[in-house]
Amino acid sequence: MSQPADASSHIAFLDRYYGRHRRTYDLTRRMFLLGRERMLRQLAVQPGERVLEIGCGTARNLLWLARREAAATYHGVDASREMLKTAADRVRSSPADVVLSQHRAESLTSPDILGVPQGFDVVFFSYSLSMMPDWRGALAAAMSCLCPTGRLSIVDFWDLAGWPKCISLWTRRRLLMHHVRFDAGVHEWLREAQGPARQLQIAPVARRWAYLATLRPATPLHTK
Ligand SMILES: C[S@@+](CC[C@H](N)C(=O)[O-])C[C@H]1O[C@@H](n2cnc3c(N)ncnc32)[C@H](O)[C@@H]1O
Repeated sequence: MSQPADASSHIAFLDRYYGRHRRTYDLTRRMFLLGRERMLRQLAVQPGERVLEIGCGTARNLLWLARREAAATYHGVDASREMLKTAADRVRSSPADVVLSQHRAESLTSPDILGVPQGFDVVFFSYSLSMMPDWRGALAAAMSCLCPTGRLSIVDFWDLAGWPKCISLWTRRRLLMHHVRFDAGVHEWLREAQGPARQLQIAPVARRWAYLATLRPATPLHTK
């Protein structure tokens, strides 16, 4: 099954897909979406920071962060209105400061769009970039939403190179059926975006089931 080419068919696909899956999503995906907590811990969100998740799904990551650091502000965007219904229900029943809105990742060409002209201290993608047909546009948009000292993190499927071939082939085929694919160009893009002012780290998760990429200022401002 190929990826839908244009924006409206991509959103229509997501709404059809998540209209069926959103209620059971968190429960059924937890054993496949490896490395999420590791990334969230590494984000080391500080009081007063502004955090943006692109492709926030049910908001489980934002609520996880908000439970640990309540004195930060959290924004979640997602292209799927269906998924955002579940996210809104979760956010309503929590005391956390989480703002949700419907946007395609590629359209976030400035943080002004989200009413945060200073930009975000943290922008992250968790298993969403591999679903985005225009991942280059999504990464460029994420960079333009960062403040000058901001950090970008991504956790997502990698090439499963450490797994037996039959498992890796079967899994990648299954992922494609769900419109999910790893494009090696993502790491190349990040290396080029690094420049002299930023530092890129790409670490494997579970024998390259997934990767955890972090692009941060070359001189870190704080550690937790
Ligand atoms: C596999 S889910 C991951 C959800 C969440 N980040 C998590 O870790 O549980 C991928 C999410 O990305 C969203 N998504 C896919 N393409 C998108 C796009 N172009 N712009 C914004 N969100 C998108 C989907 O609607 C979905 O909610």
